[in-house]
Amino acid sequence: APKREYLLLDYRGANNCVAVITLNRPKALNALSDPLMQELNCTIAEAEAQPNVAAIVITGSEKAFAAGADIKQMQTRNFVQVYKDNFLSGWDRVSSSPRVVIAAVNGYALGGGCELAMMADIILAGEKAKFGQPEINLGTIPGAGGTQRLVRAIGKSRAMQLCLTGEMINAKQACDWGLVSAVYPPDQLVDEAVKLGEKIASKSKVALQICKEAINKSYDLSLTEGLRVEKQLFYSTFATNDRKEGMTAFVEKREPRFTDS
Ligand code: CAA
Repeated sequence: APKREYLLLDYRGANNCVAVITLNRPKALNALSDPLMQELNCTIAEAEAQPNVAAIVITGSEKAFAAGADIKQMQTRNFVQVYKDNFLSGWDRVSSSPRVVIAAVNGYALGGGCELAMMADIILAGEKAKFGQPEINLGTIPGAGGTQRLVRAIGKSRAMQLCLTGEMINAKQACDWGLVSAVYPPDQLVDEAVKLGEKIASKSKVALQICKEAINKSYDLSLTEGLRVEKQLFYSTFATNDRKEGMTAFVEKREPRFTDS
């Protein structure tokens, strides 16, 4: 197995259907350095390549999911360097995974950490989680989706307030505002995320991927265009064995056995 410095990978759930990636850079509260993000991208690719894996849980420690981009690494950089190197450009790998990605957030999810969580399909939070975009306190702004995904998640006024003040919100607030879908006791959070991943893994893999694609289109398209894409993707499920099996199983009053991968 490849040597990993900043994170752990293990497989859980029935048939190892859920990959759990644990960010593990405790000394820096899982600050997202370039090497850590490279490792994360490689590890996601490795998990996706496992035929049994239908869902990927990304988590951190009870203290921090991730406290943002690595400030010490950014401190001495200038415009030309970040521009030329296209800094942050490879950070959105999570958002294009064909698998279902669940962020299980305990502790701080700040700056790039909050942005990473928002790249997941579903966010679950521990009771002590804190979300925020504190870049403004550093004289900068979010650079990995915070000004875009947060608006879509919680609306303009709240996103403005978070990004302009740098203040944090707790798990309950994040849940009330729709940023996260559920809140659990910290020590149960990862188990709950794995359970959710297992439930999702029992569905047709190809249908999951098509469904994700349709929902993600709603971010980018007008309603008319989105509805058109949805219809085409819906029709495309009729080319799969799993659609046939799912409907046949219903009619025969039995559980479906999905086989498309
Ligand atoms: N980058 C680098 N190091 C970080 C870090 C970060 N984002 N966040 C924490 N650390 C380091 C601290 O420097 C400290 O290291 P030392 O022991 O070497 O001093 C260690 O982690 C522990 O942190 P604290 O002592 O600060 O812990 P705390 O419990 O007192 O505070 C905290 C926790 C409120 C999360 C605080 O660490 C903090 O404010 N962190 C920075 C949060 C932030 O501003 N994030 C945005 C980064 S910019 C960004 O993400 C840009 C983008 O859009 C991609």
